[in-house]
Amino acid sequence: MTTTRSLGEKAGEEPITMLTAYDAPTAAIVDEAGIDVILVGDSMGNAVLGYDSTLPVTMEEVMSRTGAVARATEDALVVADMPFLSFGVDGAESVENAGRMLKEADADAVKIESGPHTVELTRRLTDVGIPVMAHLGLTPQHVNQLGGYQRQGTERDAAETIVDLAREHQEAGAFSLVLEHVPSNLARQVTEALSVPTIGIGAGPETDGQVLVITDVLGMDDWSPPFSKQFGDVHGEMERAISAFREGVEAGEFPAEEHSHVEDDVEDVY
Ligand code: KIV
Ligand code: NA
Repeated sequence: MTTTRSLGEKAGEEPITMLTAYDAPTAAIVDEAGIDVILVGDSMGNAVLGYDSTLPVTMEEVMSRTGAVARATEDALVVADMPFLSFGVDGAESVENAGRMLKEADADAVKIESGPHTVELTRRLTDVGIPVMAHLGLTPQHVNQLGGYQRQGTERDAAETIVDLAREHQEAGAFSLVLEHVPSNLARQVTEALSVPTIGIGAGPETDGQVLVITDVLGMDDWSPPFSKQFGDVHGEMERAISAFREGVEAGEFPAEEHSHVEDDVEDVY
């Protein structure tokens, strides 16, 4: 069983693996494959809910899907992503929302898109027993401020801010840190500066672990970010199965005898 503690022990010894999942059957496969951490990411907004950003994703959507993932997971650590405006507006409400992820949705921890405004929150959550995974670099909930999904920390000042914030979140009790879309050499320095595990996406090979969005890994869509990799062709496989069903029905080949049942007693009822 992966715990926040065992994850810390693994860091630096063996690479940590993390994938997103948003439903029970996918989570069961990810868990059985030996992935350390399952993130119920607000990337669900783009990946499975049909939104064009993560901003519309609600507490209820993340909680419902975290529940499904947690019920299907035996070994992996289940981390629920805090959606846009579920934290950072009001301190007490933020703690309550994070608490619901554990208390009602059975998550093991929460992830929070971090900044100067989440240091104190990270400390409060840690104090009450809610483990926090911090998230620096590209934070997609800021897309309207950033004007896109560009690489972050590419200039000296911005890079220093990321290292400083990483340290402050570790100090505040974060058990791990996601680094998204930053230069590899910055990710290496953050990893060296921290004792807690860093998990990168588009952050090069020198973090303690790697995370990707499951629909990218499976090859569900035509497009995936350039720093990602399609390890499968689930899109193609779904197309094949769905077309085969349609063709089978249209050709009168499905259902066949072995999919059907005749009961003598119900002959001539009409
Ligand atoms: O929502 C998500 O999937 C994430 C990962 C990309 C880290 O935040
Ligand atoms: Na996210």
